[in-house]
Order: sequence, then structure tokens, then C-alpha cells
Amino acid sequence: MPYLLTNATLATMEPASTPFGLVEDGAVAVADGRIAWCGPRTGLPPQFSGLGAVDLGGRLVTPGLIDCHTHVVFGGDRAREFELRLEGASYEQIAREGGGIVSTVLATRAAGETNLLSEALTRVDPMIAEGVTTLEIKSGYGLSIADEIKMLRVARQIGRARSIRVITSYLAAHAVPPEYEGRADDYLDEVVLPGLDAAFAEGLVDAVDGFCEGIAFSPEQIERVFSRAETLGLPIKLHAEQLSNLGGAALAARYKGLSADHLEYLDVEGVEAMAKTGTVAVLLPGAFYTLRETQVPPVQALRDAGVPIVVATDCNPGSSPLNSLLLALNMACTLFQLTPEEALAGVTRNAARALGLADAGIIRSGCRADLAVWAVSRPAELAYRIGANPLYRRIHAGVLLS
Ligand code: NIG
Ligand code: FE
Repeated sequence: MPYLLTNATLATMEPASTPFGLVEDGAVAVADGRIAWCGPRTGLPPQFSGLGAVDLGGRLVTPGLIDCHTHVVFGGDRAREFELRLEGASYEQIAREGGGIVSTVLATRAAGETNLLSEALTRVDPMIAEGVTTLEIKSGYGLSIADEIKMLRVARQIGRARSIRVITSYLAAHAVPPEYEGRADDYLDEVVLPGLDAAFAEGLVDAVDGFCEGIAFSPEQIERVFSRAETLGLPIKLHAEQLSNLGGAALAARYKGLSADHLEYLDVEGVEAMAKTGTVAVLLPGAFYTLRETQVPPVQALRDAGVPIVVATDCNPGSSPLNSLLLALNMACTLFQLTPEEALAGVTRNAARALGLADAGIIRSGCRADLAVWAVSRPAELAYRIGANPLYRRIHAGVLLS
């Protein structure tokens, strides 16, 4: 049944309008899971005026939040690694000594789909409770064809088990598994590339990701994965310039990548390459914070070049055990000096671009009716508070949820 939201302050996130695309005393008409109309109540077209109305009591409405970079499906935990890092070990040392990603791989391989699903839901539910309506989920802890496919099936199941839209990324090029130690190219030939074909044939892949880093894959190796993705018509994204600068962002841009992610060590050439192709910059303050990184991503250079900036949790057991996109919003402002408006655009309008979604992340007629209603009066409050959850209601595909 079509309905009307009234008495709302809309942070539409419409660019080049008011700050936050703010509309006071706004209304939104919802029909068939989409926004049929939105704007100031006084401008409501007559065909919508008879619809049943939900009075939001002046509350703030934003687009439903989009967490465009997560690894929420995994087995085990890495609390021990946290202790080791606090005793002085680095993320890279732990990875080189067989801990890190590889230790999560062993736990993920040992887990069945049912367990992986129930564990992942314990991480997804708090995100939903904070207004997330779209969630990207990566594979990358299976590192065998069967286990990567298992992870992606679980990711798809999350989209059926909860009222949330799930976008998947195939990330078999995340680490070299122990059985291929020293043979990264064989791993690509025997697992990553045929696994991509198999997962794609099952309809499990929306995008292809990789980890371009000294402890993972070289740009040449990543390029082999990207070229297979291109053949399949799949968009690409990349973990790039997280611990060092290997030119990963420019490589992702060359393949017209949706996004390059992390980017602490991004240089000017990388920024320019991204600007040319419209590849967006996904900043992950949870990983920056957890690894006690001191090199800040080049936010001003990204701004100057007009590269859209995105913020995500990177929720994973190692570098970012962070379940809260609202906290990521706060961290992006405090640690990276994003404005609250930039940060909010980074979890709505620009996050949609990082996933190639043209119909989400903005309150605009024709877009999906994925909305979050907040018990705050100004949008900056969403980034300002630490550890508070002011969500009042969530609307997913037009359905008003509690
Ligand atoms: O996005 N950078 C590589 N991948 C993850 C970390 C995964 C892990 O440590 O388990 C990240 O930070
Ligand atoms: Fe990641």
C-alpha cells in the first residue's frame, strides 16, 4: 500500500543544494518499494495528498545507511592477535608468521554454513539496528574454491534472513593460503581464477576485489584477476595503499574500478588516476585506529581532485573488529577530519557509488525507499555522538520496520 511520511526533516543528501540536501517540513510518498515523490510538504502533488500518512514528529530522515566494505562472514576471532599487537608485534609480522588473515582462514574452513551464518548475523544485526539498509560482504577467508563459494552463499543467505540488501565481492585474492606458500601464481591459476568462474556461474558475485600489498598480491598478480573480471563483465574494487604504496589505486582506476579502499599511502598520481575514472575513495577509519596507523589518507588531495569520499566499517576479525557504521562516521571526522556532511555522504550517496548502485544512498524520487528515521534534530549529530544509537525507525524497500 502506498503511504506518506510527513512532518519530517529530510537530509536528502542531494548534492549542490542545501547542506545535507536538507528539506524542512518535508514529506515522502512511498509506493512499490520506491520513493514516488519527496520534497517540502507544501509542494505535495494532489495525487499523493489522500495517502495514509505516518507523522514522524519532526524527526530527521536520511537515506538508509550503506556499509560498502565488510568482511562480516568469518569463523573464529583474533583477540589473541590483538594482545600480541599490544605487546609490540606489527600486523605485517603477525601475518608473515602465519597469523593474521591465514588464521581466520583455518577457522572459516572448519565452520559449516549454518554456523557461519549465525555468527555473521551477530555482527549484521547491530548494523541493521543502526540504520544500515545495504551491506557489502566479501569472501576472502576461504581461499579454496569450495570455501570461497561457501562464504558467498552465506552472504546471500544474510540478504534473505534479514531485511537488508546484500552486495557480494569475490576476494579470493586476499592472501596466499598455507598450501600455496611461495606459489602465489599457482594459487591464482588453480583457485582464484577458476573459483571466480564457478562463483559467477552460481550468481554469487556482484564485484571482484583483491588485496594489493607486500604481504598479499603484486599489481601484476591483481591485474590477472581484474582482467578475468573484465571478461565476465564484473566491476572491480581493490584494497590498495593500506600499508605501503604499490600503485594499486591507479591500477584499479585503469580497470575503471568502482573504488579503491584504505588508501593511507595513496600518492598524487593515484589521486589523479582515480579522479579521471570516477573511482571513489573508501576510507576505513576502523582499520586505521585498530592498527594504530599514523599515516592519514590524503583527504585534502582527494577533495581538491573531486574524488568522492566514502566511509565504511571494514568489519573483520583482524584489522577492524568494528560493528558500528555510526562509530566509523565519528572516527572519519575525528581521525581524518572529514566534515559531518562529507562523512554522511560517505555512508549514503557516495557509498552507493562504491557499489555501483544508481538507485540508493539518496532521497530522490525513483530511488529505492531505503530510509532511516532518527531521533535527532540535526544531521551532524549522527557523526558527533560516540556510542549512542539514535535510530527511531528503518524503512527497507518501502517497508516501515521498527
Ligand atoms: O580490509 N587489508 C586486508 N584485509 C582486511 C583485513 C583482514 C584481516 O586482517 O583479517 C582489511 O583490513
Ligand atoms: Fe577490507
